[in-house]
Amino acid sequence: MRTPLVVANWKMNTTVNDGVALAKELRAELGTVKGVEKVLCPPFVSLVPISEVLNGSSIKLGAQNIHFEESGAYTGEISPLMLKGLCRFVIIGHSERRIYFNESLEVINKKIKAALKAELKPILCVGENHKEEEAGESVGTITGQLRSALDGVREIGNLTIAYEPVWAIGTGKAAAPREVNSTANIIRRVIESVYGDDFEDRVRVIYGGSVTVDNIRDFMHEEHIDGAIVGGASLRASDFTAIVKKTAEIKAGK
Ligand code: PGA
Repeated sequence: MRTPLVVANWKMNTTVNDGVALAKELRAELGTVKGVEKVLCPPFVSLVPISEVLNGSSIKLGAQNIHFEESGAYTGEISPLMLKGLCRFVIIGHSERRIYFNESLEVINKKIKAALKAELKPILCVGENHKEEEAGESVGTITGQLRSALDGVREIGNLTIAYEPVWAIGTGKAAAPREVNSTANIIRRVIESVYGDDFEDRVRVIYGGSVTVDNIRDFMHEEHIDGAIVGGASLRASDFTAIVKKTAEIKAGK
């Protein structure tokens, strides 16, 4: 069985003080919610203070990015070794990084390898943009991104794939749950074709793109969607709490 996973991607929002306050509220609300793995991904500067807030709670910490080298002359970058021990998860290949920071397929592949080497759990983001969707190229794009990110990766550990159609991120236009379900199934088959079917129960496929309190149920009722990555709505404690609780309820079959 795959444990559902809900990830809060705060992006470049919250000061350290705001982040600590938000994490405290979430700890109080979500610390005892069972049946779902909860991960907060604050900005780098807040990782240390928030790790103290979350110490001893069931909420885990993740980073939003990583560099692929362990150390060296890379001004402004954060290495896997710096994150190891501080957080368990790391988001890799988010479309905002691909678009605004020119992250290539090759760089994403290196980051996946570096994260796994440091025993961090990668949350690999894949998804088509509007043009690719219009042209009917969604599956081809996603499969290409997946294969290239995992090229030469022999052991995928506890990899999570986040399917995030670019056109659905921050737009209020979430994808249709049915379609996400079939895409999630395709993603699982690609993984299976490379790594064999014992990954069926290990690799989680989650959805991201305008997830809200109102639409989370529809996504979680779908068999192949194992959770969500939440941007905008994760900045409001009450919304994120409700999203996590609904996920836990639905996946537990209540
Ligand atoms: P959104 O962002 O929920 O604000 O659409 C999701 C994401 O980019 O991870």
